[in-house]
Amino acid sequence: MPKKLPDAAADGFIPILNLEPQYRALRPALQAALERVCASQQFILGEEVAAFEEEVARYLGVSQAIGVNSGTDALVIALRALDIGPGDEVITTPFSFFATAEAISLVGATLVFADIEAESFNLDPHAVAACITSRTRALLPVHLFGRPAAVGALLEVAARHGLAVIEDAAQAFGAQYLPPCVGCDGRGCAPATQTQLRGRFVGTLGTIGAFSFYPSKNLGAYGDGGLIVTNDNRIAERCRKLRSHGARAPYWHDMLGYNSRLDALQAAILRVKLPYVAEWNAARRRIAATYHQGLAGLPGVVTPAVTPGHVFHQYTLRIQAGRRDAVRQSLLEQGIGTMVYYPTPLHQLPVYAGQFPPQPVSEAAAGEVLSLPIWPEMEEAVQGRVINAVRQALAG
Ligand SMILES: Cc1ncc(COP(=O)(O)O)c(C=O)c1O
Repeated sequence: MPKKLPDAAADGFIPILNLEPQYRALRPALQAALERVCASQQFILGEEVAAFEEEVARYLGVSQAIGVNSGTDALVIALRALDIGPGDEVITTPFSFFATAEAISLVGATLVFADIEAESFNLDPHAVAACITSRTRALLPVHLFGRPAAVGALLEVAARHGLAVIEDAAQAFGAQYLPPCVGCDGRGCAPATQTQLRGRFVGTLGTIGAFSFYPSKNLGAYGDGGLIVTNDNRIAERCRKLRSHGARAPYWHDMLGYNSRLDALQAAILRVKLPYVAEWNAARRRIAATYHQGLAGLPGVVTPAVTPGHVFHQYTLRIQAGRRDAVRQSLLEQGIGTMVYYPTPLHQLPVYAGQFPPQPVSEAAAGEVLSLPIWPEMEEAVQGRVINAVRQALAG
């Protein structure tokens, strides 16, 4: 008889993320998948990884998907595949997880920060355009918290200057690019790039897309994992080489690469979960809409817009007037887990201190953001408790 699984919310504490309901629902299929891999004794790459790569490529609508060790490696390998290194500038956002900037620094390229839009927390295309020099090689937008960045505008900037676009879609598996339709018949608007891109999954819009399967992601493995996607066969071949020590054929290494292969156990788990991700993302959107209603009109609180295509990896408020930390503390005392993603913009981290100009929009965001609990199976009553607790914290 299997042991009963603990219920994270049973003691009354509401965590920011609860993955147990998902495990409970998929347990037989997950265990069968793990058993299949163990029985095959093929643990690294092999048929299971190849099958996942084929399934996820079909799902996302790309020709090539390459499983790697992590989202961080997906970014590093994407940059290396484009031969980006010393002397090249890559423009990215200062408001992201460190890995976004770290990958650029790790390949020896010059990191350039452009500030974000206050409303979306994503790269501001005007700020990006202002950072372009003759050395710029690529743009690296992040679809932060699951909200698609302004890819249409960014791709136009990139096309004008002959730049590659590497999308960091680590937090946005299944998010779709659906910019507002202005004055068209619903099938898409000018400019032409936006029409062509409309409805496509983020990560598939630029030159290369990078995903993370860190367990807490919208599509999460049971360990580290990542994915590179592209429609360019030559780039895909370089990525496949780079993930396996730069080897073109067994024991024939013609470049320096990495040990960054997706393992078969993770691929097997991801194959079980992939068919459910659209349903889970839809549930996240419903929960976000309920938060939006429940927290509407609270003074000093900005709720994130429930924009089309957003998959709410995080539901992140802005708490203004210097009250964020007090609200967070009050929520903790009321048994509600929250997180601050991210307390320090990347250009102010010790590793980069003093090297970059101020990024005022990102700095303001870092002082105000507060992410609330969200997971697809979150019950109405549990969410109701969070909403009431936020109201209480603000009243206090
Ligand atoms: C925006 C972003 N980029 C990159 C990464 C790196 O992914 P991984 O943890 O799989 O290396 C993460 C993971 O948290 C992320 O959130």
